[in-house]
Amino acid sequence: MRLGIIVYLIAGALGALVGIDYGQQNSKAVLLAPGSPFEIILTDEGKRKDVSGVFARIQGDELERVYGNAMGSLCTRFPQQCITKVKSLVGASAGSMAAGEAATSGFFKLVEDKNRLGGIKFDMGLGNESYNFALEEVLAMQLNQFKKRALRDLEHNSEAQAVADDVALSVPPFASQSARRAYLDALQLADFSNILGLVDEGTAVALNYVSNRKLEKRDLNDKKEYHLVYDMGAGSTKATLFSFTPFSNGTLLVDVESAGYDSGFGGDLLTQSIYSIIIEKLLAKFGVSHADEVPVKTKARILEAAEKAKTILSVNSDYHVSLENIYNDQDFKATITREEFEEINSDLMERITKPIYNAISNSDSVKDIGDIKSVILAGGSTRVPFVQSHIISLVGTEKISKNVNADESCAFGTTLRGLKLKTYIERSKGIKLIDRSINNFEINYDGKEFLVFPKGSVTNNITRIDLGKVPKTAVIDLYENGKLFKTIEVEDLKKASSLDCPSKTNKKLVATFSLDNNKIFDLKNLEVACDTSSTEGSDASQETAKAEEGKTNETNSSESSKPKARKPKAVSLSMKDSYPELAPLSKDTKTKFSKKLNYLEKRDRQRDELEKIKNVLEGKYYNIRGYIEDNEDAIIRELSEKELDEIKEYISNGIEWLEFDSDKSSYDHFVEKVKEVDEKKKYLENLFEMNSVDLSFQGIEKLQKDGGTIAMRIQDYLLKFGGEINELRKKFEAEGFNFEKENERTNQQVLRGGNDRLLSLEKNLAEYKDKLAKVTALVSNPKSFDKMVKRDVYEVYKEVTDKIVELLADLALIEGVQKSRLVALNEKFDQLMERKVKKQQREKAKKSKEAEKSSLKEKAAKTASAESSSETKTTSENEETHSEKEKDGSNETETSSSKSTETSVDHDEL
Ligand SMILES: *[C@@H]1O[C@H](CO)[C@@H](O)[C@H](O)[C@H]1NC(C)=O
Ligand SMILES: *[C@@H]1O[C@H](CO)[C@@H](O)[C@H](O)[C@H]1NC(C)=O
Ligand SMILES: *[C@@H]1O[C@H](CO)[C@@H](O)[C@H](O)[C@H]1NC(C)=O
Ligand SMILES: *[C@@H]1O[C@H](CO)[C@@H](O)[C@H](O)[C@H]1NC(C)=O
Ligand SMILES: *[C@@H]1O[C@H](CO)[C@@H](O)[C@H](O)[C@H]1NC(C)=O
Ligand SMILES: *[C@@H]1O[C@H](CO)[C@@H](O)[C@H](O)[C@H]1NC(C)=O
Repeated sequence: MRLGIIVYLIAGALGALVGIDYGQQNSKAVLLAPGSPFEIILTDEGKRKDVSGVFARIQGDELERVYGNAMGSLCTRFPQQCITKVKSLVGASAGSMAAGEAATSGFFKLVEDKNRLGGIKFDMGLGNESYNFALEEVLAMQLNQFKKRALRDLEHNSEAQAVADDVALSVPPFASQSARRAYLDALQLADFSNILGLVDEGTAVALNYVSNRKLEKRDLNDKKEYHLVYDMGAGSTKATLFSFTPFSNGTLLVDVESAGYDSGFGGDLLTQSIYSIIIEKLLAKFGVSHADEVPVKTKARILEAAEKAKTILSVNSDYHVSLENIYNDQDFKATITREEFEEINSDLMERITKPIYNAISNSDSVKDIGDIKSVILAGGSTRVPFVQSHIISLVGTEKISKNVNADESCAFGTTLRGLKLKTYIERSKGIKLIDRSINNFEINYDGKEFLVFPKGSVTNNITRIDLGKVPKTAVIDLYENGKLFKTIEVEDLKKASSLDCPSKTNKKLVATFSLDNNKIFDLKNLEVACDTSSTEGSDASQETAKAEEGKTNETNSSESSKPKARKPKAVSLSMKDSYPELAPLSKDTKTKFSKKLNYLEKRDRQRDELEKIKNVLEGKYYNIRGYIEDNEDAIIRELSEKELDEIKEYISNGIEWLEFDSDKSSYDHFVEKVKEVDEKKKYLENLFEMNSVDLSFQGIEKLQKDGGTIAMRIQDYLLKFGGEINELRKKFEAEGFNFEKENERTNQQVLRGGNDRLLSLEKNLAEYKDKLAKVTALVSNPKSFDKMVKRDVYEVYKEVTDKIVELLADLALIEGVQKSRLVALNEKFDQLMERKVKKQQREKAKKSKEAEKSSLKEKAAKTASAESSSETKTTSENEETHSEKEKDGSNETETSSSKSTETSVDHDEL
């Protein structure tokens, strides 16, 4: 429904925007660009979603990376080199649970990053530490794929391609401060230069839901309704409660109320349960006492089978596992039934619905499920039948909304949000989002706690807090839901003494905190200010700066945020950050990572190019070989057996070299080879053509005659062109218009490169005549002609005929240009004429008015002397008119009229 508005918006304001839904198991992305309104970005295999992951291996002596679906079976064959399902690790520190869990259930190996507090790296087992990647790097590699694919899709849209740098990414609502920072860092490393923002997944789905709703006028009834997004992915389950109000003025208000979640429960856990069923059966069959004794590769294959089983059991009642050579070269077969699956998961049932209850209990407005109008299912795991049946039995079938595509809704909503963040346009109609924090953000300072942004705070807010008297040392701790995540030490409190305050006023410490659109809570600024409210002392009063809505004019709002009357003099203090568990990437580290990723990217590109040119060269070898086979009879007439054999050998050697000895060769070397083969082919083609043309004396005589005719014809054309222009010149001059100026201008607009062509034609014509002279020399001496080698005659023949082709191409182009030039000049002439006529009419009107006036004057002043003076006046006016007319024909009018032509050309181009 809103697509129209959006398409309109992007046509003017946007380059290209990519919205990414990065999932634990699968990722999807949507491209929004002029000509591509909300399109899923397909993978190289043409799929709408991609496996989230990257596989790394050493090829030759270089790192090669394989992404997503293309990883295929590599992950089961080399499990440690495969990094998948790492979303649950984003923002996790080395010491945390998630890292520990992933280390045991994933097949990759995590190691501590010695250079970063709490940092973890993936040890890819490639025997080179520089190939151990941090999580942000691994994320960046994957996110960058979407940018590359977007650029691929925009290949024919260079304008949008040049700015495909806008990105929005969805994140789980429970993403911690460090997770959000990690996502932002990864986007930056992924080479997106304009990060529009992070969007909570539930919010994204809510936006997509609202944009999909078909609303009639009568539906715009100002009534608030509540909906719930239930999103179960591979790694986590989330319930987001939001209200939707379709206002009669056209505003569709989405207000995110609350959320409930289970960050450890998702489709993966169900897969894990099937995995444990299969492995139990396998251990029993082979009499193995413990799963630890099963090799990692075997485990990886079983996990793959479990994944398949989960999908199959969603529709069928049983699944037959069959794994060849799975253990000690023996096969393994087993059947898993849906009952088994549901039974082993019975203790997980509660976890399916718990997020819904949590979302409701976290909400101030919704008391129970009855208040919710519909439940929107998103995430691949909501397709698992018993998950669905649980939700249905809780809320009722009729409440399950069918308005969104469970797989793609989040990616579309993320893109929609990105668009909002990008354009900042507040429209009377359309979706308006109020996004809120689901966490409390507190600080601890000097033993006191301040709740800066309580749960439910609208995001994108800045607030100032008066921290009281200036202490000797100051430390501010930042908390998210009671969990310390950052400590800020104030470094230069001594600077406070440099501040001059009026006598009898104290100095105070004032902190400015922000909660931005990405839901990152931070201390923006800390300053010492004069306490003009004097008596309040250390009583921490909160004064709120005006909320900085994203769309307000930055400079304007920062000024208006400080009340002018009390604008305190203040000095800003510098601060030092430290972190209890996990430090974010430092600037230096990011630069280092960025360089590394760019280098790998560059090598990838070079390898691609090398591969391409190799293929080109191979193709050319086979092509020339085929050409010889097809035309051998003709070629052999002009070529000695020996020479032909040499060429054949050259080709065989080339093919062999390409296959066996070219590995170390440079790109340039291949380019040279390609050129070499091209030259050989051209040579053979010429030999072949020699046979098809008449190189006898009569033939060359004919060439001389025809060639002369062509030269004359071209000269005739040039004369004709000149004549046409001359006529126009006369036409212009007859009306007193400046032809040269108009002609030059038209040439610039219409001719574009045409002038060069004209020069090239003249040059070519001269060269052509030289070549033709050679032909004339040939035919003027029949005796020496008879003695000439055929190949030399052909040489002359070819030179002449090649030139003719060039001349004709020039001519065709110039003819076209000449036509548009004449049209443009004639149009200009008409415009000038029109103006001239109008001007004359105006003059005429003016003159008759003057005449009226002067006749009145005549009546008033009856003396003869007055009469004569009035006559002189009229003449001088006539002169003025005349000089104005001349100006008209020269530059002033032209400037304005040529401007108008220019604009009309622009419009046509659009
Ligand atoms: C590790 O990889 C880097 C980057 O490609 C390379 O420069 C370095 O020589 C490698 N070290 C070893 C020991 O192979
Ligand atoms: C539409 O009406 C609602 C409720 O009165 C209001 O909050 C909103 O700002 C209005 N939108 C516009 C663009 O005026
Ligand atoms: C910004 O945050 C402060 C502190 O939580 C709050 O008092 C204020 O109402 C918020 N402003 C807006 C516009 O939400
Ligand atoms: C902000 O407003 C000032 C004056 O009000 C104007 O000069 C400036 O261009 C505006 N900036 C933006 C980004 O709109
Ligand atoms: C910007 O400031 C001017 C005066 O300085 C004021 O009139 C205008 O309303 C302000 N605009 C916004 C968006 O705050
Ligand atoms: C008009 O033309 C005259 C001479 O052709 C030139 O000197 C003058 O700069 C021109 N004025 C403008 C505005 O182009």
